Amino acid sequence: MFPPAKIVTGSLELREFGPQDETPIAAFLAAGDRTALPPVCPATAAELPGWLAETVHRHRLDGGGVHLVMLESSTGEIVGSIGLRDTDWEAGSCEIGYMVRADRRGRGYATEAARAVGCWALTEGGMRRVQLHARTGNVASLRAAEKAGFQHEGTLRMAEWEDEAAHDLAVLSMIVTDLEAAGTAR
Ligand SMILES: CC(C)(COP(=O)(O)OP(=O)(O)OC[C@H]1O[C@@H](n2cnc3c(N)ncnc32)[C@H](O)[C@@H]1OP(=O)(O)O)[C@@H](O)C(=O)NCCC(=O)NCCS
Repeated sequence: MFPPAKIVTGSLELREFGPQDETPIAAFLAAGDRTALPPVCPATAAELPGWLAETVHRHRLDGGGVHLVMLESSTGEIVGSIGLRDTDWEAGSCEIGYMVRADRRGRGYATEAARAVGCWALTEGGMRRVQLHARTGNVASLRAAEKAGFQHEGTLRMAEWEDEAAHDLAVLSMIVTDLEAAGTAR
């Protein structure tokens, strides 16, 4: 399993979601704003305590991955989330995903978080490969990943079916030798 994460970057603090996040997340749900929240976050405030106290940690303890909250250092506010999932411990690979609150986009937060969590997974997390799948039309996600140091590998054509349409997915990755090349590996 991954160790508990506490990652500090220039503008952000990244750590596992926990009970202290209940009030701000409940406020997001009440406002109908899920833009900072991972898709697995419950839809109702009543389900939050169990999710924050148990389910989030179970995901890590079971070896599935991590759900990290993105906190803005200057305000302490939740500005997004980033996670690792679909972990294959034998291959040493996992999938990264991220989202940033709509009113905080364009400030480089996704880039900063993806770089930090990618490096963390490849060092503290013991992974060899962190991959990202994003729709070829999701320019912001692809741009953030590129700036974070993920390299394009190709396109999975018509790999996703949603909203009655097939979508091409770009595949990008950061691998452990990328860090060695950059002189940042352990
Ligand atoms: C993708 C997402 C996380 C990016 O977050 P962010 O904090 O705004 O990203 P960053 O500021 O680090 O970088 C975004 C880059 O994309 C660029 N960008 C954003 N929208 C763009 C567009 N429509 N066309 C071209 N470039 C665009 C920004 O200008 C910036 O690049 P730059 O610094 O070179 O100017 C955010 O848009 C989001 O949460 N989207 C919805 C969820 C999602 O798609 N997650 C990814 C799933 S794979």
